[in-house]
Amino acid sequence: MLITNIKALVGVHPKETSFLRGSKLNQLPVLENAWLLLENGLIKDFGPMESVPSSGAKFETLNAKGRFVFPSWCDSHTHIVFAAPREEEFALKIAGKTYEEIAAAGGGILNSANKLQQATEDELFESASVRLSDMIKQGTGALEIKSGYGLTVESELKMLRVIQRLKAAFPIPIKASLLAAHAYPAEFKENHKGYIDLIINELIPQVAHENLADYIDAFCEKGFFSLEETALILEAAAKYGLKPKIHANQLSVSGAVQLGVKHQAISVDHLEETDEEVLTALSKSNTIATLLPSCSFYINIPFANAKGLIEHNAIVALASDYNPGSTPSGNMNFVVSLGCIKLKMTPEQAINAATINGAAAMELSEQVGSIAIGKKANLMITRPMTSLAYLPYSFGQSQIETVILNGKIYHD
Ligand code: NIG
Ligand code: FE
Repeated sequence: MLITNIKALVGVHPKETSFLRGSKLNQLPVLENAWLLLENGLIKDFGPMESVPSSGAKFETLNAKGRFVFPSWCDSHTHIVFAAPREEEFALKIAGKTYEEIAAAGGGILNSANKLQQATEDELFESASVRLSDMIKQGTGALEIKSGYGLTVESELKMLRVIQRLKAAFPIPIKASLLAAHAYPAEFKENHKGYIDLIINELIPQVAHENLADYIDAFCEKGFFSLEETALILEAAAKYGLKPKIHANQLSVSGAVQLGVKHQAISVDHLEETDEEVLTALSKSNTIATLLPSCSFYINIPFANAKGLIEHNAIVALASDYNPGSTPSGNMNFVVSLGCIKLKMTPEQAINAATINGAAAMELSEQVGSIAIGKKANLMITRPMTSLAYLPYSFGQSQIETVILNGKIYHD
């Protein structure tokens, strides 16, 4: 396929750029009045319209006059496999209850786990498929999905098998994370060691044996998994080659970021609560700071200090955190808008954070995240737009007109 008359081809980073650290996040190279050639599902070539290849009858041609072409969003943190939404908590939240209070009153992760344990693999696959095709239509072209609503060996494996089925059924790269350490099941409330032993001795070996996960995750937080407990799990997973991506500093400054850095985590995610030591820990590390502004927006907690992280030379990514409790939305366009509006990122920074740095937070930099020859042709074409900033500026409204995956127009 040949796409012509592109008003601006966005994110034409050099092929070897796999992430953007600190102030480099502001560099979003754009080629104006461009063409883009896709072949065998990959980006074959691109250039200015003066040098457009003569198409003849050789290629299907798409005229993108007035439109922008972006690399697809790379959403590196989601929990889209769940049995049921939690609207009942919505009313409590509106009435002023906090996320912690709702969880303590029997809502939260344990509520989702009870429902998921009763759902069949087929039911979970069907409902997650609906969510995923919505996300794809909103521009997501690669994502990570976590377990963590199973909380028994059997149900965690069930969730991970559903993720495997999604990988096989959808035309985008998907990574899976084992998040058994999401909450202590009721029967282990007073016996943390018992649950950790189960994760370490039964679950991790089985997951590795069946090759069901790419990463290990843990909700390292007061009232959930302590630093010591998280460290035990990360160490056990490391023996099976599962690298960490962890939930850190969502509700408190806990030391989880430093723990992640020490264990060479791919990413530490959330970071709504930070201090100078957190910024310093990430300033030299290759561990990515993945910020989830839709979660802050929905549960009314502070927005992460994106500016501080960028000033300290950290690698910042943006992701959705789509889940039934803290973020019932997987719309990356809104995430990018919040990145600008609430995290005070420039449009260039927010777009890079949701594409090239999101790809790096899934170790997919060689495949997706920018417009480079040889990368997957996973793209979105906007409606006619006046400028690049119009995309995050027009929050809550999709500017995406066409989604292209593996070089083909996506219809679900
Ligand atoms: O990333 N913080 C932990 N996990 C999810 C929320 C889980 C839930 O409430 O169901 C999050 O926000
Ligand atoms: Fe999360």
